[in-house]
Amino acid sequence: MAHVYSAVKVSESVYWVGAIDWSIRDFHGYTTPHGSTYNAYLIVADKITLVDTVKSPFMDEMLARIASVVDPSKIDYIVSNHSEQDHSGCLLEVIDRVKPEKVFASTMGVKTLGEILHGGAQIVAVKEGESLSLGNMELKFMETRMIHWPDSMFSFLEKEGVLFCQDAFGMHLATFERFADELPTDMLEYEAATYYANIVLPYSPVVLKALEKVSKSGWPIQILAPDHGPIWRKDLGFILDLYKKWALQKPSNKAVVVYATMWHSTEMMAKAIAESLAQAGVKVKILSMNETHRSEVIYELLEAGAIVAGSPTLNNNLLPQMADVMTYIKGLKPANLIGAVFGSYGWSGESVKDLEAILNEMKVEIVAPTVATKHVPDKDVLMKCHELGQTIAAQLKTRTA
Ligand code: FEO
Repeated sequence: MAHVYSAVKVSESVYWVGAIDWSIRDFHGYTTPHGSTYNAYLIVADKITLVDTVKSPFMDEMLARIASVVDPSKIDYIVSNHSEQDHSGCLLEVIDRVKPEKVFASTMGVKTLGEILHGGAQIVAVKEGESLSLGNMELKFMETRMIHWPDSMFSFLEKEGVLFCQDAFGMHLATFERFADELPTDMLEYEAATYYANIVLPYSPVVLKALEKVSKSGWPIQILAPDHGPIWRKDLGFILDLYKKWALQKPSNKAVVVYATMWHSTEMMAKAIAESLAQAGVKVKILSMNETHRSEVIYELLEAGAIVAGSPTLNNNLLPQMADVMTYIKGLKPANLIGAVFGSYGWSGESVKDLEAILNEMKVEIVAPTVATKHVPDKDVLMKCHELGQTIAAQLKTRTA
């Protein structure tokens, strides 16, 4: 029988039954120009089990995909690996329609779902190391707190080697290709890096511990089934190694010059600094916040060694575009960066002090004197910008040698 929406077979008993969001362009402040998917998985075991659900408006698409395999009312268990609303927004309604025997989440998941759903669902807590019998196979659980919420956990279907890893190893990418090996490698690396930088980065120390825990578990993982984007079934080392590299946050010989400008004075300074860095052999990315989205800045910082931030002063403050991006990147906690600050002003000049304060809060080591100028920079000021670039370059050289 033909179906408008079909499930996709992932392993002998596991089907992808998620939804494709072709049009989402903003995911809580992170720009998603290529859409996303909300992945849910159906395990056709003796106890038919649904792992995660989808964002609320996509519930019917998910139920239709499930129906292409089995009547949704036959679902016995639902497992919630992650409570964020893109995976739990329709959970209450799904429970109401499907009437499963039991719904499972981590201990913190039970608490968080209680705060999101406010009753209406009895959820059973499963603990680290616990197993759930599905009759002819077992599901094992591993807590992965703060990757990237306190409730987050992985589930592992040992019999078929499928690790349901919720947001980890995912990406916001809408495609009909369900498997990573059907997509170009450079696209996968870019999308996974953007996702890591914008979602996972603050929890990098936890990622390193989780990678070690997974490695020591002895679980024979064949497939990584994340909650967004393609499923990994070949060369798992590709994404695992990238996660290790990104989580380590080793500085590289790369500087990100991020600025906003009112009358091009701060821009002239940014260009002088960037030219100087490039002359000294540093890989430079120069980003004007008048035109750039904040998501791109954190992506560029993911493998950088330095941030040089510039803003004019507007009404005793940062230019709003710089306040926006600095708030965003501060929250995402890029580590092991050096930096410096610059900017033009008309009379009061608070912007550079504000930028210095933010870099200090971010634990960015400021290694070059701030360059500030009244109105339009003259040759001397631009030479100070050049010197700032040379200082940053010299520091990067010693730190990345
Ligand atoms: Fe895909 Fe943290 O939700």
